[in-house]
This record gives sequence, C-alpha cells and structure tokens, in this order.
Amino acid sequence: MIYNNDSNDNELVISSVQQPSMDPFFIFGLLLLALFLSVSFLLYLSRRAYASLPNPPPGKLGFPVVGESLEFLSTRRKGVPEKFVFDRMAKYCRDVFKTSILGATTAVMCGTAGNKFLFSNEKKHVTGWWPKSVELIFPTSLEKSSNEESIMMKQFLPNFLKPEPLQKYIPVMDIITQRHFNTSWEGRNVVKVFPTAAEFTTLLACRVFLSVEDPIEVAKISEPFEILAAGFLSIPINLPGTKLNKAVKAADQIRDAIVQILKRRRVEIAENKANGMQDIASMLLTTPTNAGFYMTEAHISEKILGMIVGGRDTASTVITFIIKYLAENPEIYNKVYEEQMEVVKSKKPGELLNWEDVQKMKYSWCVACEAMRLAPPVQGGFKVAINDFVYSGFNIRKGWKLYWSAIATHMNPEYFPEPEKFNPSRFEGKGPVPYSFVPFGGGPRMCPGKEYSRLETLVFMHHLVTRYNWEKVYPTEKITVDPMPFPVNGLPIRLIPHKHQ
Ligand code: HEM
Repeated sequence: MIYNNDSNDNELVISSVQQPSMDPFFIFGLLLLALFLSVSFLLYLSRRAYASLPNPPPGKLGFPVVGESLEFLSTRRKGVPEKFVFDRMAKYCRDVFKTSILGATTAVMCGTAGNKFLFSNEKKHVTGWWPKSVELIFPTSLEKSSNEESIMMKQFLPNFLKPEPLQKYIPVMDIITQRHFNTSWEGRNVVKVFPTAAEFTTLLACRVFLSVEDPIEVAKISEPFEILAAGFLSIPINLPGTKLNKAVKAADQIRDAIVQILKRRRVEIAENKANGMQDIASMLLTTPTNAGFYMTEAHISEKILGMIVGGRDTASTVITFIIKYLAENPEIYNKVYEEQMEVVKSKKPGELLNWEDVQKMKYSWCVACEAMRLAPPVQGGFKVAINDFVYSGFNIRKGWKLYWSAIATHMNPEYFPEPEKFNPSRFEGKGPVPYSFVPFGGGPRMCPGKEYSRLETLVFMHHLVTRYNWEKVYPTEKITVDPMPFPVNGLPIRLIPHKHQ
C-alpha cells in the first residue's frame, strides 16, 4: 500500500495500484461467514436462556442454527405438516413443547387451550411477531404492525372491511368475477387453477382497494408478486441473488406502482373527479388518523401492499382447494350446484348478486370452511411473550417465540372425527368447538380480511359452479406446503361447461 502525498491539494491518497483487488466472491463469503457467526451467537444466547430457566416446556432444540427447521420444512414439503406437531405432542406433551424453527427458539402451544391462550392474551402475555424475512420486506410497517401500526389500521379497516360497508361491494365483486371468467375461463378446455385464481384475487383487490381495473396498471402490481411471495418466509439473508433480496425489490416495485395511483387519486379528489370515500386508498388519503396526522402516500402504499399480500395467495389457495375437493366429491359438487342454481332462479336475467343472495349460500360456505380446515392457507403463526408466565405448569420467559398451529387442531380427531375426510356438514348446526377451527387466527389480531374473503370466495363459487363442472388433469396430484398448501402442478383441470349456459 502506498501513501501518496503528491497531489495538488495535499490530500492523503491511498493508492490502490499495488493493492491486490478483493475478489467479490471472497467478500461475499466473508459477509456470509459474519452473518452465520452472528446468527449462531444469537441462537446460542436464546438457547442458553432456555437452558437457564427451570422447568421449561419439554422438547428438543435440534441442531445448532438450523434447529428442527429441516424436519419442520420437510413434513410440509411432503404435504403432512401436522406430523411435525403430532409426533412431538405424543413424545413430549399434548399441551406445549419447545423446538427451534426458522431461526427462532419457540414454544409450540397445541390444542384448543393453546389457541385460546394465545388469542386471548394479546398485550397481556403475548403480542404478534413476524419472522425476520417479513420485517425486511415491510421495513416500516409490519414490524410495528404488531403494535402501533396495527392499532392505527384498526381505525380504518372496520369502516371498510366489516360486513356492512362491504355489502355495497358485492355487485362490484360480481362484475369483476364475471369479467374474470369471460377472459380467463371461457373457451378453454384446461385451466391451471392456482395461477388463474391468483390473477382473480389480485384483480379484485386492485378494483376494490384502489379502484383500478386497467390491465396495465394491474400487471404492475401483480407481476412482481410471485417473486415477493417466494421470499416472504425465506431464510433471512438479504444479499444480492437471494430469494429475500428479490422479494424486497419486488415489494419496492409494487409500492412505487401504488404511490403513482395515489398521487393521481389525490389530484382527482381535489378536482372533484373522485370520491374521498370510494375505496380504502381514498379514505386513507382524506381521513386523518386518530393521532391527528394524514398518512403519506408512501405509508398508504405500504398498508395497501400489506392488504394485497394478506389476501392474494390466501384466498387463491382457498379457491384452489375448493375446486380440488369438489372434483373429488361429485355428490358435494351437486349440492353446491343446486344451492347456487336456487340463487340464479331467484334473480332477473342480468341482475347482479347482492347481500341477500350471498346469505343464501350457506352450504357453499361450509364447503369453503372444510377446504380451509384441510388446507389452511396460513398454517399457524408466531407470537412473542411480553412477560414471564407459566403455561400448563411450564415456565415461559419474556422474549420467547410462541407458535400456534392451525393444523394441530384442524387435523385432530378429538375435534374433527375422521379428520382426513372432506365433510362440509361438520360446519352445519353448532359447528366445530370453539378455538378448534382457526384459519383466520383469533382474538384482537384475527384477520381483518375474513368477511372480504368470504364474499369473494362465495361470488367466485357462484360463477364457477353455475358455468362448469370439471375433472382434475392429474387425479393424484401431490400437495406440498411452501409456505401455503399447493398442488405441485398448480391444479390443472379439464372444464365441462353446463349445457344451460
Ligand atoms: C382466506 C383468506 C385469508 C386467510 C386464511 C387469512 C388468514 C390470516 C391469519 C391466520 C392472520 C393472522 C391472525 C393472527 O395472528 O391471529 C391474518 C392476518 C392478517 N390478514 Fe388475513 N387472511 C385472509 C385474507 C385476508 C384479506 C383478504 C386481507 C385484506 C383485505 C387480509 C389482511 C390481513 C392483515 C392486514 C393481517 C394482519 C392483522 C394484524 O396484524 O393485526 N387477510 N390473516
């Protein structure tokens, strides 16, 4: 290295002439090593915290760093995610066991009692927690969503996502759904269900949340989405080329597209060309928060992105599994068909669906619930302990991650006899016991999009079954879970249009 003092301005210059240049792969390797060591150190500290506590929940933390993640992920890949939980419940304890998954030393709470505890102790003993990858994709919001952001959005979301305000969107949902069937189903012999359903849920979200229908604008939001979804629950390494890094960039692209729409809307509202309450985007632009400030366009775009992420693949998964199970159970398909044809018969030709029509679709909703029981789009969720407490006789320490598992109750014969069987009548009458059916979570943090999803699913089912019957292209197509349940080929089906069309 040469220190060069000859420059005119007498600055000390470090000449790089004789310095061997650092190989980028070497730097990348060093970064990875540093990351590995820091993660290992943090995990070591969290394991030590477990070891130092008397009477923690029973269980194994598995290998250093990876913990039991490999088994957790491999049971999902094989389509039997419940095995991970049930094996440990049988081996250690039916109520709670400890493990280490996705980089977090975690107590898994099982059964209806575990769900009840986690859902009804928000802010008292626990609060929401998201894995690192999610925090990196939503740097300004979801990290806080557990706290202030979630409270702030609770001011707005009920005005929009509760059953009453949503009623007026049913005719809009109907128009968008018909358009989707006309463009993406009509005239086709085979349709690949999952990507087609994702196209539908994105189009509907763009229309209902943002009043956007233009295919070019919708594409700017929907195209980067797959990349975002792939990195959503990935290994938290944000370096060029990783799934997470691509997801972070894809999220930025979508946010930018939403900001452009918001800027235009602001002008339209000022010029009285748009209504300040026409959709959630306009409402967020024109209404101050309870804390007395107006949200910026960047902040609103973040919120809308969160809603689209929350609702896109979840609802597409539900639609996909409804279609799969109806193909496998023709007698159940017939009952749904009859129910939906009753609705058709009660309408004038061309009359759009409304709230009363959706209330008549009771059996169809049982079918959707049964699909969510067997294939819950969100398989479970993390919380974090905010103080020390005792659960089921075991000590839980502040800062520990806690996991509730939807499949642990959904697939438990104690709550759902013959759990493998697709049987929508379980949801008739009194329905399942409290806290056993939890596809939307529960308590104060329960999914705010539940009613919106119910309406979009039922409107979709109405047009689907009144237009088509279908059969699976691959009768034994395998199911994997990554992070949501997914037929490995995307569920291609052969359409059989009804003659009455
Ligand atoms: C079938 C479709 C859906 C399923 C199965 C689902 C499931 C869930 C679950 C399990 C949670 C976590 C609840 C908890 O921690 O207790 C959640 C949270 C959330 N969902 Fe959904 N969701 C769906 C659709 C939607 C839709 C359509 C939206 C937006 C309109 C949405 C927005 C959100 C948001 C913003 C949160 C975070 C709430 C908070 O942190 O307070 N979801 N969802």
